[in-house]
Amino acid sequence: MLRRDFILGMTGAALGTPAFASLSGVAPANQATITRQFDVAPAKHRLGDADASDSDLWLYGNSSPGPLIRAKQHDRLSVTFNNRLSVDTSVHWHGIRIDNRMDGVAHLTQQPIAPGESFTYDFTLPDAGTYWFHSHTRSWEQLAQGLYGPLIVDGPDDPEVDHDIVWMIDDWRLDENWQIHTESFGSLRDWSHQGRLGNWLTVNSVSDFTEQVKPNSRVRLRLINAANARIFNLSFSGKATLIATDGFPTSHQETDRITLAPAQRVDLIVDVGTSPLSMTEISGGTLPAGKLLPTTSLGNGSAAGSKLVQATLPAAPEIAKARRIAVHMQGGVHGNLDSAEYEGEVLGLRDLATKHSKLWAFNGKVGSHSLWLTEAERGTLISLDVFNDTGWPHAMHLHGHHFWVLSPDGAPLHAGKRDTHLMQPGERASLVFVADNPGLWLFHCHMMEHHAAGMAAVVAVL
Ligand code: C2O
Ligand code: CU
Repeated sequence: MLRRDFILGMTGAALGTPAFASLSGVAPANQATITRQFDVAPAKHRLGDADASDSDLWLYGNSSPGPLIRAKQHDRLSVTFNNRLSVDTSVHWHGIRIDNRMDGVAHLTQQPIAPGESFTYDFTLPDAGTYWFHSHTRSWEQLAQGLYGPLIVDGPDDPEVDHDIVWMIDDWRLDENWQIHTESFGSLRDWSHQGRLGNWLTVNSVSDFTEQVKPNSRVRLRLINAANARIFNLSFSGKATLIATDGFPTSHQETDRITLAPAQRVDLIVDVGTSPLSMTEISGGTLPAGKLLPTTSLGNGSAAGSKLVQATLPAAPEIAKARRIAVHMQGGVHGNLDSAEYEGEVLGLRDLATKHSKLWAFNGKVGSHSLWLTEAERGTLISLDVFNDTGWPHAMHLHGHHFWVLSPDGAPLHAGKRDTHLMQPGERASLVFVADNPGLWLFHCHMMEHHAAGMAAVVAVL
């Protein structure tokens, strides 16, 4: 099969049955279809306090964050987006083991949605959990302007709670007039360092967000990091129980500190008493982020204190059985990348940066949609053996699959699977998964500036 033929719009024809059929089994006879329609458009939204002026954002359905999409496991979603922007766009369903044609990666799994055009994403939801959707066309620009929203999939084993709450956390980069700082889009300084860090922290697009809850209630708090590049370090004024990471059950753990890399999610169970529980961001000072405020007028909760059942976690696969694919990550400032191959030519880092805005490489090559890490037969156990040989942390994300995070000799580094793994400088991790979903799947850093500057490649599942 010619590589070129494989790209864009032929996965259905060439690969037969759409992926969702294999992942979710035969659709149940009573499968519900949830149909939604949103404009993707410029919109005004106030991110600051009452006296702040509106910011000009780009939003889904005139809402920031985008409208909550909520469904049950195995439901079918049919969501139409009308592009009212003056530029191309597309929508990615982060963490969903989706039919490749619905994955939303412009120029890889679909043609972008042109201005004035519409596109309907139609797929089945194979897994319960906390997910989100966001632009996957010039994401470094479109995420930073507000193009994201939450997707929650309810499952049969969800714990009983009094409140199920979604908090999308973002750090916007705003100027003194509350407008998105657009002049710094494409800044080589951001692209070669940690990425675009913002200066205005919000939860659900509100600064110091307060959510009223019933006193003595049990809350499921779903946190989603929607920032371009900021790793949030969150501190809680009370104890929470971590039950899921990236939508997938993990071993229960009591904590008052959470590190959340771009695109990662955690689900926490919090039993609130009669005093507020606050969440503070401590990576850039001490900033109040969100608060659960017990409010007597709401009545009393009933689920607090009931037993939490630990989900059975699947055993990690044996790494010895995996096909091992080395991914040597280099580049950026404070790194050791002198030169890399870009479009068939070896260029020095300075030329790559100034002529092409490229700064990062996998295995000596600047990453792109045409850099394939592997072509895997369907069903192959794959281990992406990633070595972060840069001076920066990276949030490595694989589309269409969930992976185990193992040490290079196969010891689990995390209980349960994830779809985004935060890697520290010098870290080696093996991201292991069964390549069971046919199509072209992006593997990239979710610090959007790193992604754009070369930290992206393709895992092809045939
Ligand atoms: Cu959350 Cu490639 O994306
Ligand atoms: Cu990165």
